[in-house]
Amino acid sequence: MTALRRATPDDHDHVVALPDLGGATRRLLAKDLAGEVPRHAVVAVDDGEVVGFAMETRQPDEVHLLDIVVRPDHRRHGIGRRLVTALAALGAADGATAMTLEARVSNPGGPPMYRHLGFTDSGVRPGYYQDGEDAFVMWHHDLGVLARAADADDLSALGVASVVAPRPTGPVRVPDLDELETERDTTTGRVG
Ligand SMILES: CC(C)(COP(=O)(O)OP(=O)(O)OC[C@H]1O[C@@H](n2cnc3c(N)ncnc32)[C@H](O)[C@@H]1OP(=O)(O)O)[C@@H](O)C(=O)NCCC(=O)NCCS
Repeated sequence: MTALRRATPDDHDHVVALPDLGGATRRLLAKDLAGEVPRHAVVAVDDGEVVGFAMETRQPDEVHLLDIVVRPDHRRHGIGRRLVTALAALGAADGATAMTLEARVSNPGGPPMYRHLGFTDSGVRPGYYQDGEDAFVMWHHDLGVLARAADADDLSALGVASVVAPRPTGPVRVPDLDELETERDTTTGRVG
């Protein structure tokens, strides 16, 4: 059975071994897991093996999904959904009200999964990635709804007592490109 838990520095080598992990994540993960920048990172573990990973970073009111990956032999079993909704619950517990991400327009799995979870397409950033590919910009404007879709066992394992997310109070601000993290490059299929 696959369980979620918070990622720790000891997970580094297992996470970087996951195929399709973003190149920037691969390079910066040690720093990310060391907690130098406060952000939530979650692993999915099956039979002692790390089979999934997701990480976010926080803007003032929103969760920005930085990367998510599920090992190919474990895809289409709901692990991606559990990782996204778990990060939503952690973000909601911090007071965030919305979630956003970028995804390559050619990505076959990410955008369909996000739409399945209630994200909407808010536009395309032309040439967002360093190889020139465009990015979909996607938003979920009611983090509480997304967070409440998290599995109870996952919430318990992650130490989220209950999901009481503040309701969005108005239109959600879409950040300019300059405001997005610039230390991460965009050479691979990372989320944002
Ligand atoms: C995107 C990814 C994380 C999805 O993980 P997953 O565990 O397979 O996703 P889930 O099983 O939770 O999928 C939930 C729903 O999303 C949709 N979905 C997921 N993958 C899909 C795909 N390849 N094609 C179409 N729909 C898809 C489906 O509606 C699915 O429900 P269903 O299986 O009952 O039809 C996984 O494909 C992956 O690791 N891809 C490589 C890395 C990547 O692209 N990350 C995202 C960058 S934007």
